[in-house]
Amino acid sequence: MKKLFFSTLLSIAFCVVSSAAVRTPDTLRVLSIANSYGEDAVEQNLHDIALADGHVIIIGNMYIGGCFLEKHWKNAERDSAAYSYRKVGVDGKLVKRPSTSLDYALRDEKWDVVIFHQSSGLSGKVESYEPWLTKLLKYTRERVPRRCKMMLNQTWAYAIGSTNPNFPEYGFSQERMYKELTEAYAAEAKKHRMPMIPSGTAVQNSRHTFNRENVTRDGFHMQWWFGRYLVACTYYEALYGQSVVGNSYVPKNLSRRRIDIAQKCAHAACEHPMGVTRVDFDNPFDTSGGNWKPDYINTDPSKIPAYTLPDALTMQDGRIVTTPEQWYGERRGELLELFDTEMYGKAPGAIQPLVEVLEEDTPALDGLALRRQVKLSFSTNKFVVVLMYRPKGAEGPVPAFMGINFDGNATICDDPGILRPGEQRAKRYGIYVEQPRGRWASRWPLKEILSRGYALVTFHCYDADPDYDDGFRNGLTPLIYEEGQKYPKDDQWGTISTWAWTMSRVLDYLESEETVDASRVAAIGHSRLGKAALLASVRDQRFAMAISNDSGCGGAALSRRRYGETLKFITGNFPHWFCTNFLKYVDNEDALPFDQHEFLALMAPRPLYVASAEDDSWTDPVGELLAYQEARRVYDFLGLDAGLTGYHLREGEHDLTYEDWAHYLDFADKHLKH
Ligand code: GCU
Repeated sequence: MKKLFFSTLLSIAFCVVSSAAVRTPDTLRVLSIANSYGEDAVEQNLHDIALADGHVIIIGNMYIGGCFLEKHWKNAERDSAAYSYRKVGVDGKLVKRPSTSLDYALRDEKWDVVIFHQSSGLSGKVESYEPWLTKLLKYTRERVPRRCKMMLNQTWAYAIGSTNPNFPEYGFSQERMYKELTEAYAAEAKKHRMPMIPSGTAVQNSRHTFNRENVTRDGFHMQWWFGRYLVACTYYEALYGQSVVGNSYVPKNLSRRRIDIAQKCAHAACEHPMGVTRVDFDNPFDTSGGNWKPDYINTDPSKIPAYTLPDALTMQDGRIVTTPEQWYGERRGELLELFDTEMYGKAPGAIQPLVEVLEEDTPALDGLALRRQVKLSFSTNKFVVVLMYRPKGAEGPVPAFMGINFDGNATICDDPGILRPGEQRAKRYGIYVEQPRGRWASRWPLKEILSRGYALVTFHCYDADPDYDDGFRNGLTPLIYEEGQKYPKDDQWGTISTWAWTMSRVLDYLESEETVDASRVAAIGHSRLGKAALLASVRDQRFAMAISNDSGCGGAALSRRRYGETLKFITGNFPHWFCTNFLKYVDNEDALPFDQHEFLALMAPRPLYVASAEDDSWTDPVGELLAYQEARRVYDFLGLDAGLTGYHLREGEHDLTYEDWAHYLDFADKHLKH
């Protein structure tokens, strides 16, 4: 392991923080005096982690949202019954008692440990801890058994791009916040001779694995599954002094791989609390530090395993598809259902949004186009802003390309008239790095698209579902939840599915208006959004054409080849993209009841275009071509013209370029201009 210590803190680290784990009586009784960070840490997972190692634990958590040390003290002084007292009993059940005072909670059990922390925003401000912590400790000692240990929980720094209102205090720098809060906790821990639970360091360690920012759900609170589990692992090890690595408790909704990252990052933090440890973990992004694992990400074509593709024309029950009617009537539906339930996750039926035209047709782009911006609201605060350009002066409804954009409508060109509400909405979700206007203009050659007679329709992927692991709280996903449901079921939609579904809702809108011909819309997408464009058009046969640009793993590339990006990588790094059922096939690709050639074949009889780039080995261009060729066999079987499908491999890297568009426009001219 490579350790990145704060040099100045090295000396205090050992005497203060890595000290005594708490004695473990038969039942450990732990009380946290906290806020939402404590809620993230102790109310779930911790009990089960302890139990898996044979420990009985009773956990109390005194909760007030956003509470800071000074306020805790004032509550103590005034004996204010201001807390929600949550208690996890020996049976693991959480019981909430409203309106509780600190005095009550401190006397409620014979606590072995009481844990304090500062509110996140004040954590790095050492002057904010005193005299409150001193007073609180005295108050606590007067009410708990003599043997009771006091501990401090180190809170964690905000996500890069977090919009937490306290982030400016740290110059919007995660690194600075982490450093300052660690120094402050260490100073207080030393002063009061109390051990620190290094949660903030565990979080920071996880950010230095390929998991990166997939640890908070909104830029500061822990992500429901991974983040909360990570912090609970850290508490466990700090409380029991026993390594959490290998602990057998399996939390919900986490792959084995993410459990492993959490355990190792927590363990490394407990060993080295004062600075980031780069956990020696498969980190496919990092080719520099010896972490590159060729056995994990295969870049050597000679190592592609032998595999047999499922035959697109054989039904699950072994029957051979012998007629086009059987394909369209039986096999197509069977495959679609499998892709929906085993990979992308089922989407709901159409939901009618509230349509609000934010901007009527307005001349734009030097008179070449008419721009329109429309807001589709699915519920309060859940809305998608659609940006449309169509050729000015076009007679009658025009064909269109519909593609989702990565970073906001305003990034597709430097037209100052493009509204940025999608971005503000994303900002509310706490994690968004602002991109300048026109940032991605090279991917959207508007002049060519418009002058060839097409409209362009786009929206920001974050509007449909933010592209990070937020426990599926923020995007449109919760629209499907039944009462009490908090997470998609194993076969319900992941983010790619949500993006695809939203494309269909935008198509619904196009059907309701008269400038774009909704029966001549090509779904287009690059990379992850290419996966979404394929899924949208495979599912929704109203899309007249699909264009996959470098969509790779989970898109046009065969999964069984395990070349470039693998299922292990994609589900570990983008845990939100697919449904939970898909995890079954990680490292188990041969068990997949389908492969991506069948996904492409589902486009038949409509036009399909697949494109790859030579230097884009991550997407496995060969795997894309092979899938395309296999899909083509289905088109042939169905008696469809060779011109209905297209493929190109261009020189260069992973990108959507002018050259790609030149092919797409020619292809569209053939099929959408009648
Ligand atoms: C990553 C990811 C790919 C994805 C790509 C993108 O490389 O691993 O699956 O296609 O990002 O969307 O640009």
